[in-house]
Amino acid sequence: MVSRVIPVEPFDLVIFGGTGDLARRKILPGLFRRYLSGQMTPESRIIGAARSEMDAEGFRQMVADAIQEFGGAEKSEKKAIAEFLARLDYVAIDAKGEGGWAQLAGLMRDGVVRAFYFSVAPSLFGDLAERLHLHRIANSESRIVVEKPFGRDLESAKALNAVLATHFDETQIYRIDHYLGKETVQNLMAVRFGNVLFEPLWNNHYVDHIQITVAETVGVGGRGAYYDKSGAMRDMVQNHLMQLLCLIAMEPPSKFEADEVRNEKLKVIRALQNVDHHHIVRGQYDADGSSPSYRDDAENPRSFTESFIAMRCHINNWRWAGVPFYLRTGKKMKARSSEIAVVFKDLGHSIFEGDEARHRNILAIRLQPNEGIDLQVTIKEPGPGGMRLIDVPLDMTFSEALGDDAEDVTDAYERLIMDVIRGNQTLFMRGDEVEAAWAWTDPLINDWERRNDVPKLYDQGSAGPDDALMLMHRDGRRWRDIKG
Ligand SMILES: NC(=O)c1ccc[n+]([C@@H]2O[C@H](COP(=O)([O-])OP(=O)(O)OC[C@H]3O[C@@H](n4cnc5c(N)ncnc54)[C@H](OP(=O)(O)O)[C@@H]3O)[C@@H](O)[C@H]2O)c1
Repeated sequence: MVSRVIPVEPFDLVIFGGTGDLARRKILPGLFRRYLSGQMTPESRIIGAARSEMDAEGFRQMVADAIQEFGGAEKSEKKAIAEFLARLDYVAIDAKGEGGWAQLAGLMRDGVVRAFYFSVAPSLFGDLAERLHLHRIANSESRIVVEKPFGRDLESAKALNAVLATHFDETQIYRIDHYLGKETVQNLMAVRFGNVLFEPLWNNHYVDHIQITVAETVGVGGRGAYYDKSGAMRDMVQNHLMQLLCLIAMEPPSKFEADEVRNEKLKVIRALQNVDHHHIVRGQYDADGSSPSYRDDAENPRSFTESFIAMRCHINNWRWAGVPFYLRTGKKMKARSSEIAVVFKDLGHSIFEGDEARHRNILAIRLQPNEGIDLQVTIKEPGPGGMRLIDVPLDMTFSEALGDDAEDVTDAYERLIMDVIRGNQTLFMRGDEVEAAWAWTDPLINDWERRNDVPKLYDQGSAGPDDALMLMHRDGRRWRDIKG
């Protein structure tokens, strides 16, 4: 049932930061899987670049280990692994130095797509862009892929955009948000715009509210010091949750094309109301037995950074006037779960005696785990007990719907890298979107910093601080259960 794989054009992909965590865990194993599927053709090549001194053979060994650890490779795929590794090369390069660039220039081929993945700290983006240009390695057809964090506020995001714009046109810049590469996220658009059923109901006449939850069970662990300078708002809301919000709330684009979709997303961000601080709850996880608190993990006993945030937002336009969007995300929560739930209004009137018309349809889009969509509908409770109504889910879990083919559903990173090679920017953030998102989050962050707002403690393995529950209760609503 999974669609036929269409090979992409041959490419030379340079991964700056090719020895880093992201490259080893996601990018390189993902590329291997695309090679296995036939989407990456044998004419393509991948060149790792980082400061570490090693030769191509050393890099291949590192990638072979990464594929074993993170790629789901079977022993029977030994031949395919060897073939894939033969397509790899490595150049020792310091983004800030001059060594290695001539060697890299010599490796680049004409007549294939040239792409450069900046899997390094954003502070190096400018140096890389500059040297790619200086050594004539990038041309007007080349693409660059950049990772989050894309700035830490509007000013730094503008500066980063300006640095990249010095050498690359916006059509060459692919800002990755891997949430947009998830199968379900694209399915959200298919459900909305490919069915006649939902769009007529997708507005303030029928929708009571929308909930977006991204819950993680992990803490900030080893990256505490980095995370403490960021927090849940910058790390998760400004990018992932806002992108999900845009896709659920945007007007139908006239075509499923990059700028059509991104124009509509931008309008949503620009229509977001400022959020009063009474409608924001920030939290920090507390210590639990031997498990350290957020402040211990962050090694900052006076930290005011949030590891959890919940908020109520409104979109100022005709479609969504009066419909609250509740967002929440946090670490050390009770389960790992990402979900968007569109909660429709209660039935206006029930014709069934004794029934209080409290039935509501809920369309839940699960990003993880068990990617899928379910629609809660009201039916008669089976049996002879009269006309009693119950709410049950119509479940479309992809793994069940697609059977064995579900294993072939592409990982978000793989899909997005293939989109880069195809030159399709639909699932990537445009510079003005990123800036608009910061323009909305900056005043909220400045406000709590000015007030020295202290995050509320919450238990590890919970659904966040009690105040987050109250945020909904005050409105006569409740969060959906966080289920793994
Ligand atoms: N890891 C993730 O899951 C994840 C998720 C989302 C976004 N990101 C972002 O992706 C980027 C990479 O993250 P990461 O976790 O892979 O970081 P990492 O493990 O610290 O890797 C950094 C990479 O950059 C290379 N590097 C550092 N300084 C360099 C320089 N001056 N010139 C050339 N190469 C240099 C390092 O190799 P050498 O030391 O050998 O030079 C290494 O390969 C970061 O911007 C991060 O925020 C990561």
